[in-house]
Amino acid sequence: MTTMTQGLPGTGVPGGGVFTGDSHALHRLVLDVRAGRVPAYASSACLAHRELAGLLDGRTERLSPSAPDSVFHREERDGRPGGRRPVPFLPKARLLTPAEQRVAAEAFARTLVTGELTSGPAAATFEAALADFTGLRTTATSSGTDGLIVALRAVGVEPGDEVIIPANSFAATENAVLACGAVPVLADVEPERHTLDPVSAGAAVTSRTRAVLPVHLYGRLADMAALRRTADAHGLRVVEDACQAIGVTGVARHSDAAVVSFNPYKNFGLTGKAGAVLTADGELAARVRAVAYHGFHPDRKNVKTEPWGLNARIDNPVASVAMGLLPGLTLKNYRRAFLAERYVTGLAELHAAGLLTLPAFTPDHAWHLFTVRVPGGPAERERIRARVREDGGVETDVYYPVLTHQQRTSLHERLFSRSRLPHTEELHTTAFQIPLHNQLSLTEQDRVIEALHAAVRTTAH
Ligand SMILES: Cc1ncc(COP(=O)(O)O)c(C=O)c1O
Repeated sequence: MTTMTQGLPGTGVPGGGVFTGDSHALHRLVLDVRAGRVPAYASSACLAHRELAGLLDGRTERLSPSAPDSVFHREERDGRPGGRRPVPFLPKARLLTPAEQRVAAEAFARTLVTGELTSGPAAATFEAALADFTGLRTTATSSGTDGLIVALRAVGVEPGDEVIIPANSFAATENAVLACGAVPVLADVEPERHTLDPVSAGAAVTSRTRAVLPVHLYGRLADMAALRRTADAHGLRVVEDACQAIGVTGVARHSDAAVVSFNPYKNFGLTGKAGAVLTADGELAARVRAVAYHGFHPDRKNVKTEPWGLNARIDNPVASVAMGLLPGLTLKNYRRAFLAERYVTGLAELHAAGLLTLPAFTPDHAWHLFTVRVPGGPAERERIRARVREDGGVETDVYYPVLTHQQRTSLHERLFSRSRLPHTEELHTTAFQIPLHNQLSLTEQDRVIEALHAAVRTTAH
């Protein structure tokens, strides 16, 4: 190992970098650890960085998989070293570690005895801590879906307005638009990013368009600067569906507001449904706060400042759990970025041979899901997935199996029967997801890499 004293660009810290905890800093950290470089990192005091900062302790070598106190557990987590135990896609019993489960149970118990089971002090404490992490004004909500509805209402989306969205998202995106009485209008995505194409979004604008709602699919930031330009050209509001992208540098920097999700399957998964609306705009933050709770003034009991609102604030016990788990957030995102880089390296040969298309290891990513693509169509994809499962014991998944315009309800047929989204459709038939979650071990990851090598090569011949 060589020692380097290379700081992060622009930090001005001699001989070291400030660890900011956002995805660009994590990206850099992963590359340093993988290259055996040991720059001195100084951590900020943000609560969300605490566990990573503790491990880092000024030396990246403590984050290497070969370090004795490594953040990755090799054999012990897999139980049977070298065994052929299946590799689940997203094992529910391992969403939280036993230590996190204890922290969560204690946090919940503390609020239970107070009887403050809906509103309560933990919500405000959590919002302040999250604001410290994101640098944005924060309203914690009862889910990401509720956060999206609140944010759309707060930026002025009214019944009958149109909101431009991609078709390759979880149904929450379109449902949030529908819940406002507005009409989702579909635009195509960029083939490499899988996220809303600014040009296609611009072409979908009509006189009734009110907002653009890009989705940072799989955790990768959409091209927000270009989307903002498109929106500005037409006088539109922008709300980001960042439900999969907590921690990504630039979230809510080119939009009116961004919404993150903390449901148990997300990078920062809690013990129930939760989310947050993030914004840099103080006035909008106040409106978000009011719409999230019946339209009420924050300090005057039952006095409305907004015509209507939802019952969509985070519950006090969940916020208390969130405070307990927050110190581990940046470590989780580091682990995911590290695993993503390791997939990109471990599968590079297949990518180079044109047998499997990998995502680029970019810094604008939370690595919520790791998506690969096969050059053929859906039949080849299913053949590879079957081989990986049957021969390698590795589970994979497809996010999302039905595109918005291919749903078969009467509403969808009325709204979207003429939608043509060539890039979205092409990605939809060729992409699938391989395991990447907070507790994926390196041994399990090696099994996935091995299984894919075998399956792709066999299927190609
Ligand atoms: C892209 C996207 N949007 C919205 C949501 C909704 O978030 P939640 O489950 O917290 O309501 C999710 C999560 O499921 C999501 O992945």
